[in-house]
Amino acid sequence: MRAWFLAAAVMAFCGGAAAQQTPLQDKVKAVQADPAALKQAIEAGQKAAFFCFNCHGDSGISKIPEVPNLGGQNPAYLVEQIRKFGSGERKDQFMQGLIKVLKDEERVQIALYFGSQTVAPGKADPAQVARGKELFTKLCVRCHGEAARGDATIPRLAGQQIPYLQTSITRYRDGTGIRNNQLMAIATATLKNEDIKAVANYLTQLP
Ligand code: HEC
Ligand code: HEC
Repeated sequence: MRAWFLAAAVMAFCGGAAAQQTPLQDKVKAVQADPAALKQAIEAGQKAAFFCFNCHGDSGISKIPEVPNLGGQNPAYLVEQIRKFGSGERKDQFMQGLIKVLKDEERVQIALYFGSQTVAPGKADPAQVARGKELFTKLCVRCHGEAARGDATIPRLAGQQIPYLQTSITRYRDGTGIRNNQLMAIATATLKNEDIKAVANYLTQLP
């Protein structure tokens, strides 16, 4: 019964049935549809994100391997993760505390600023890449897309830092409660540690 329910949930999600958008995701979409408002929001976001640069980098390319790149990330995904830190659905002691002080408007602006930046591909172990591609194509492409750039609500993975990818994928697989998403728990259930390493190497070198 449970297995059937999960399979149905995955199909509904990937079958184009519009995923439920949160109010801040709707707000992101509205600003994106208005070029003048978007330009303004990106400028305000660059100012509001000043403190974030310490860890995530000025243009969202992190120099700390455990800290994710935010550059080029989908803004709707970013505001959703900020919401999850705020509600405690996603756990990171520092981020949970920090995010509480951001107003809704700043969350949208910061997400649009980082989303407007370009990520640079990372270095990978060539021996891992082919195996990683095979796994990604089989298990991940249907949601994250061929180029691993995601879409309005699915995260971009292309160019992300290897240690961050490995840690995050392992957390979903192991059901540690640090990151909670049923679709990701199902998608990663069969991966071995070596598979996760291979997928992370494949993803980091994508443009
Ligand atoms: C002290 C370092 C530090 C600072 C400063 C910081 N972050 Fe983070 N951030 C992290 C770490 C570490 C993670 C990864 C947490 C995890 O392991 O899941 C993270 C994760 C995130 C994520 C999730 C990204 C993803 O791909 O899922 C978002 C969004 C984010 N931070 C936004 C911000 C914003 C906005 C600011 C500024 C207001 C900020 N961060 C400041 C360290 C930092
Ligand atoms: C059924 C759709 C679906 C499939 C299949 C899927 N994902 Fe995801 N993935 C998602 C969603 C939705 C999220 C955001 C989850 C959240 O809010 O924590 C996500 C998040 C992630 C993240 C976190 C990114 C970040 O910036 O923190 C990683 C890494 C990831 N997926 C890797 C994979 C890999 C590797 C596979 C294949 C083994 C895969 N995903 C298969 C839907 C999917």
